This record gives sequence, structure tokens and C-alpha cells, in this order.
Amino acid sequence: MLVAPSILSADFGYLARDVEAICEGGCDLVHVDVMDGHFVPNLTIGPVVVEAVAKAATKPLDIHLMVENSSFFIDLFAPLKPGYISFHIEEEKHPHRLIQKIRALGIKPAITLNPHTPPEAIEFLLEDLDMVLLMSVNPGFGGQKFIPSVIEKAKRLKAMIEKRNPDCLIEVDGGVNDVNVKELEAVGVDVVVAGSFVYKHPEGIGKAISLLK
Ligand code: DX5
Ligand code: ZN
Repeated sequence: MLVAPSILSADFGYLARDVEAICEGGCDLVHVDVMDGHFVPNLTIGPVVVEAVAKAATKPLDIHLMVENSSFFIDLFAPLKPGYISFHIEEEKHPHRLIQKIRALGIKPAITLNPHTPPEAIEFLLEDLDMVLLMSVNPGFGGQKFIPSVIEKAKRLKAMIEKRNPDCLIEVDGGVNDVNVKELEAVGVDVVVAGSFVYKHPEGIGKAISLLK
């Protein structure tokens, strides 16, 4: 299992330290939650702060856009050379075009699905994607409860991926812990995002990451 800790649960007063801690703790990607106060009822960070994250990180950034007008934000973050950028299918009228735009910038394109969105919504985009991000909470906040229907959704998505693009990864984000990660692994999920589980684990960040792996 690949692990992408969400820095939303970091101490932003010590952001560089907390980014270094997950990289030294063995994470695979650094998950960055970008919220605009419109698509979701919360507001987080822009390119100025994410540039500091990129400097501290020794693993690729996984930028999760929770915004209206994803195209505008892709232009803002592209100079930081993230590994992945994902945008929400629910806000984009021309997702196929946006995928091509991300790839042309040298970044791996991913699409995110809210809890209510069926995997069939992106079936005909799969061959152009490097990753699909399934939300297992409503986007906007860390520390929420895992929504179990994502297991069935991941299973259905996995069958579609095997048929159309076996290289495409499945990532799950929200309320992930060392118990539900086993169910996610069993249905073929490749990457888990975890914020509070990693940053607030009583035995420390490295231990939390190794439990998820
Ligand atoms: C929610 C974010 C998640 C969240 C994960 O909108 O996309 O990345 O911070 O945090 P936990 O693991 O605490 O649910
Ligand atoms: Zn996220």
C-alpha cells in the first residue's frame, strides 16, 4: 500500500518540520489539500505556502484540488512540479480536456469523485488517467468518519480499470485508519491518504505510516 499523508493535519506553524517528518517516516506521496471556500466550505493554502511544502518534501506532491475553476488552479500549481494533480469531476464540464492540459504540463493527471458520484461517471476517461481518487468523506475537513460505501465503489472501479487501463491507480481519501485500510487493500486500492491517523498517532508518524503499509 502506498501512503500519502495529508498535511491538512500538520501543525502549520511548523509546516516544513511536519513535511520532513512524513518524508523521513517513509511516505510515498505528500498529499496537499487545496480548498477555495466555494467548492467546499473551507479555505486552505495557495501556491506561496505549497512552494514551501515542495522545498521541504523529498517525495512527490499529490495536489488534491477542491475548487471551482480547476483549470486556473492547475496553472498556479504547475510551476511547483507536483507528481499528481487531481480535480473533482463534479465541478468540471470538460474533464477530458483538463486531463490533457495536466499531462502536457508534465504532471500525472488524476480525477476525484465525491461520495455520491458513481465510478461510471469517469469510465471513458480511465485510459487517460494515472490515478482516480475516491473520497471516503465529504471533502472539506480532516478528522471525519469513513463512509463504508467507498469499498463497493472501489471494487466496481477496479473491475473497470482492469479492463480499460490496468496502470491507473486507485487512491482513497478520508477517515482512513489501520482497520479500514485492510478492506481497501482487499478490493485493490493502491494508495491511501491519511491526515489525522498519521499526524496524531500516539506512537508517532513513522509508526502510523508503517501500520498503513
Ligand atoms: C478532506 C481531505 C482529506 C483529509 C484527510 O477534504 O481531502 O485529505 O484531510 O484527513 P483524515 O485522514 O483526517 O480524514
Ligand atoms: Zn485530500
